[in-house]
Amino acid sequence: MPDSETTRVALVTGGYGGLGTAICKSFARDGYQVVSTYRSPERKEHALEWQRTMASDGLSIELVCMDVSDPESCQQGAKELLERYGRLDVLVNNAGITRDSVMKKMTVKQWHDVIHTNLDGVFNVTHPFLNQMLEQGFGRIVNISSVNGQKGQFGQVNYSAAKAGIHGFTKALAQEVARKGVTVNTVSPGYAATDMVMSVPEEAREKILSQVPIGRLAQPEEVARVVRFLADDESAFITGADYSVNGGMHMH
Ligand code: CAA
Repeated sequence: MPDSETTRVALVTGGYGGLGTAICKSFARDGYQVVSTYRSPERKEHALEWQRTMASDGLSIELVCMDVSDPESCQQGAKELLERYGRLDVLVNNAGITRDSVMKKMTVKQWHDVIHTNLDGVFNVTHPFLNQMLEQGFGRIVNISSVNGQKGQFGQVNYSAAKAGIHGFTKALAQEVARKGVTVNTVSPGYAATDMVMSVPEEAREKILSQVPIGRLAQPEEVARVVRFLADDESAFITGADYSVNGGMHMH
């Protein structure tokens, strides 16, 4: 921690989703001030409801409005957050969507929606916080990619391209900020028990599950603990790395 007076501040994009919730809880339980983004004013009520559920678990999590696919919205959200706390220590770029389709049926919109949210979003959110992290001489950026960015997935040229791009971003930025106390890493989850995965048609999901040596979906907490580990003050020598959490589905 910076000093006894200061609490580390962690921002999790898409914090109220399946993985996001587990990630937020893990930081909040360890005494971080956690902030989750929500996408738009229309989603505020949903975010507030989630916030109340967290509070009933004894976890105080704040909210900031940021559409990760929109650079201006991210700049505005970052300004508000930095005015509120004066610092950002941990950024977890977790927000992501799927628009699965075989390439021959994929629309230009399905391509762009996924690239804008899953890849541009990582740039849009990281950019307005980077100087602050460099100036404070401490930062932990953890980007959530996917096993499907490592190996490709039938029906996901958009998602696989965006998720593979995230790790390129991680490796390049890690080099730029290494000397300033800022680390940048990727976590590549496999299939976890989240709404995103459960919305895959059952037949396709069963086929995928048969390719997981451990033989089950990941619990979101099993991904969150790796994110928390990478964000730790003590993890200062790990940067530019990609941690797989995929039950053995893809080894490389
Ligand atoms: N490998 C080879 N062939 C496959 C295949 C696969 N993995 N999946 C389907 N096919 C074949 C089918 O057998 C079918 O063949 P025939 O035409 O010869 O019968 C053909 O491809 C078309 O399949 P569908 O009828 O399923 O086509 P569709 O258009 O209805 O659906 C799809 C295609 C959208 C890709 C659907 O199969 C699907 O949703 N697949 C799952 C995609 C997936 O894994 N998404 C992950 C979401 S979760 C996530 O992304 C989180 C994370 O990070 C892990």
